[in-house]
Amino acid sequence: MKLKFKLLAILVGAAVALPSLAEVTYRKDIAPFVKKRCIECHFPENGSVTLQEYDLDIEKYSKKDKVGPRLDSYENLTALIAFPDPGALMRRLDDGSGKADKKPGNMYEKLGDTDAERAANLKMFKAWLGEGGWNFNRWEEKNGVPAITKEQLNKLKLAY
Ligand code: HEC
Repeated sequence: MKLKFKLLAILVGAAVALPSLAEVTYRKDIAPFVKKRCIECHFPENGSVTLQEYDLDIEKYSKKDKVGPRLDSYENLTALIAFPDPGALMRRLDDGSGKADKKPGNMYEKLGDTDAERAANLKMFKAWLGEGGWNFNRWEEKNGVPAITKEQLNKLKLAY
């Protein structure tokens, strides 16, 4: 009886611990990855500025090959996922497989050195956003793509 109780306690403990083990978080997974793969063009030490500053002088910054908006903090990264620029990260990192033209976003190649690596890292980003959170819609309707909805935004997990 005693042993049975112990086993039950272990099983319950495992069931509770599992989802949190699998959860993708900013601190554990996303920040180290972005630091490794995106630092060259998206960190302030290499001349990158915030999305807000970037947009103020888009003429200047868009001429520079290796300067994209800052992705070096939770706030800077989620600015390109939720607000003010919903869908930006998803449009850039997507592999194109679900689109009619199959064209990947122009930052997809930065996700890894091989197809397998890129696929695994895309999966990690999708898991971080959460089921139903990977959407291409902008704040406003554009080219027939409807504006993002509150329901879509509600799906975003983005665990810190
Ligand atoms: C070799 C340089 C370089 C690397 C490495 C790079 N990027 Fe970029 N990225 C740029 C440049 C330049 C722009 C701005 C021009 C453009 O919009 O394509 C940009 C734009 C973006 C945008 C769109 C920003 C906006 O304002 O809409 C996102 C999102 C993005 N990058 C994500 C990433 C992620 C995530 C990584 C790492 C996995 C990465 N990039 C790696 C150069 C780079």
